[in-house]
Amino acid sequence: MTSAAALPEITVERAPHSRWVATDWSTVPFGSLYSDHMLVAEYRDGCWREAAVRPYGPLPLPPSISALHYGLSIFEGFKAHRAPSGEILLFRPSENARRLRRSAARFVMPEVPEALFLDGVNALVSMDEKWVPDHGAGALYIRPVLFSTDTSIRPKPGERFLFVVFTCPFASYYPAALDVLVTSRYVRAFPGGTGDIKPGGNYAPTFLADVEARARDCQTVLWLDGPEHRYLEECGAMNVFLVLGDRVVTPELSGTFLAGVTRDSVITLLRSMGHTVEERRVAIEEVLAAQKEGRLRECFGTGTAATISNVRRIHVDGEDLVLPPFGPAAVGPLVRERLVGIMSGRDPDPHGWVKRVTRDARR
Ligand SMILES: Cc1ncc(COP(=O)(O)O)c(C=O)c1O
Repeated sequence: MTSAAALPEITVERAPHSRWVATDWSTVPFGSLYSDHMLVAEYRDGCWREAAVRPYGPLPLPPSISALHYGLSIFEGFKAHRAPSGEILLFRPSENARRLRRSAARFVMPEVPEALFLDGVNALVSMDEKWVPDHGAGALYIRPVLFSTDTSIRPKPGERFLFVVFTCPFASYYPAALDVLVTSRYVRAFPGGTGDIKPGGNYAPTFLADVEARARDCQTVLWLDGPEHRYLEECGAMNVFLVLGDRVVTPELSGTFLAGVTRDSVITLLRSMGHTVEERRVAIEEVLAAQKEGRLRECFGTGTAATISNVRRIHVDGEDLVLPPFGPAAVGPLVRERLVGIMSGRDPDPHGWVKRVTRDARR
């Protein structure tokens, strides 16, 4: 569904008091404190209407809305960093705007036009500029969500929607090293399903698997494909990479898992660093065999919140596959440094990935 017509002007209502506090963001759990403002835009009668940056707070909504009953809700996640110069940099926000449009198409929702997405985020982040942690001390996580506010409980595509964006500062998400469980008891996605987009409903069914992972001293699940329970797909809510001998291997995009922006960036950086990266199917048996032959050098997950998270143990069929500790030439930490250098404005941006936040004249 596309949205024709002119876009609404983004109005601004400033919060009377700021809740910002000077703090060490590494001590604040991810998603526990939100910045002062949010963007709210409304879609009704076939077009985007009011759009406003206004104080972060509750949205008065009736209990019959179809987002609650039928899961008509999709979201995105990306980050803003503070450069050494003090400027605020968004990392590849157009990619998230594009992915939100793909999610919307699958759920018969209206597209959020790229201009509304980018201008709205710029207005919001520039308004809450002080919430972006200092250079090197974390990032501002940006959470756009689009959901239906239709009040009919008839199961059908929605007609009225809210596009809301809010933000939270943070420094870390996953712990420094991850232990992951391989299970065939649950699947995250299957061909023809919604594994390659971001509806909220993809996440709730994974929580029980995570609970079971924790019972085995793991933090999350290394997901296998739905039909065969054989091929690696994702690592928690991250894409997964392996270093097998002198090659870096990552599952090829199959339509059943998310095409991560971090995944794409890491592949580009690794190739520019001279690594051979193979995008192909990787069976769990291949990982076990590589471990026996001493060729399994690294496993890491990639995603916006964690950037790159090192896997140190894979629990599979009652056995622990323990990965060797990172040496000085380990691929994961080196590519992480490259990526963080670009995201945070510390290093040049040869791929044109960062977008500067411009000051909103109305502030
Ligand atoms: C299920 C899943 N896989 C992978 C990713 C990584 O995607 P990205 O690098 O765009 O954050 C995410 C995070 O959005 C995710 O939720």
